[in-house]
Amino acid sequence: MAIARSSFIKACYGRNDGPLPVWIMRQAGRYLPEYRAIREKVSFLELCRSPELIAEVVKQPIDRFDLDAAILFSDILTILEPMGMKVGFPEGGPEIEAPISTPEDIDRLRDFDIAEEMPYIIEGIRKIKEVLPEKPLIGFAGSPFTVACYLIQGKGSKNFDTAKQFIHSYPDAAARLIDFLSHVTARYLEMQIDAGADAVQLFESWGGILSRDDFRGMSIDASNKIFGALSGKNVPRILFVNNIAPYLDMINDVDCEAVGIDYRADLAAAARALPGKAVQGNLDPSVLFGSVEHVRKKTEALLDGFEDHSRLIFNLGHGIMVGTPIESVRAMVDTVHNYRGQ
Ligand code: CP3
Repeated sequence: MAIARSSFIKACYGRNDGPLPVWIMRQAGRYLPEYRAIREKVSFLELCRSPELIAEVVKQPIDRFDLDAAILFSDILTILEPMGMKVGFPEGGPEIEAPISTPEDIDRLRDFDIAEEMPYIIEGIRKIKEVLPEKPLIGFAGSPFTVACYLIQGKGSKNFDTAKQFIHSYPDAAARLIDFLSHVTARYLEMQIDAGADAVQLFESWGGILSRDDFRGMSIDASNKIFGALSGKNVPRILFVNNIAPYLDMINDVDCEAVGIDYRADLAAAARALPGKAVQGNLDPSVLFGSVEHVRKKTEALLDGFEDHSRLIFNLGHGIMVGTPIESVRAMVDTVHNYRGQ
């Protein structure tokens, strides 16, 4: 099958001998005029619930930049609605009505039948496969700790202090919450794979605020529970951790094929610290605000500093930013694809 031979899937397994694969975290979204045109007509949540529009916005960045993988269009917080929480997406970022503030609040969260309550995800994946049959498709979810941060804090935050205080005020309740979210997330990703996703990525966007001890308990164990449940599915499992450097040694213990590295870390050093895994990253997203020449130089420098290209998936070191110039994205992608005349 063409997908199994794609540079992206081969790199996930450390076996890529051809051109380097590249995709971009948050590649569908507000930096693209064609995405903004759709968002003028429908709200973010309407978009997330329409299989046709999901397929359309997933295809947009692929058509423009010939990226080597597509990623499902949704959000890490869409699973909260069927759990019984109300989530809104106003301009400033997500907002959760009546966030969790006591251990009893956790009992409000309900387990649910994913196929029944989120049919648009399954249908969306099927539609993406119709319009992009040859492209590896990445399914995704937020990590239990990252999702818990929003559930407790109620909105975005610089350090999620309320969430951190909750886990230490109520350690048993916090463990129960992480367990529940791990269970739902494993089934959610399983459903995405069964519908047609060729790889999955878990976004640990906020684990980087934890002490090492708490990172092991709240993040490593949960990732292993989720990825362990997917081990029989034969698709690459990617863990992205924002601010990964303090935990690299522990990440070796995670049952996954590839690890996403944020822009703060040294990519080559991260690869040496993770000998059995592919690495994904990690150009600083703000580099793309420089000149095209600057983007080329920074991209090449990152590639030159890397040793084992057979297990590299090029990406940004966090999500692409609103206002990013299109020509910079193209310069980055072309530089990766043409690297060393490959
Ligand atoms: O193209 C893709 O990457 C797929 C879609 C995707 C979205 N969100 C769409 C989105 C993915 C993978 C996400 C993940 C996500 N969402 C994360 C983890 C990744 C990371 O950045 O660390 C987090 C923390 C969220 C929560 C979230 N959703 C925030 C903070 C925001 C507002 C800020 C922003 O990024 O725009 C959202 C809204 C959101 N999710 C938008 C999109 C395209 C913008 C909504 C709009 O169209 O106005």
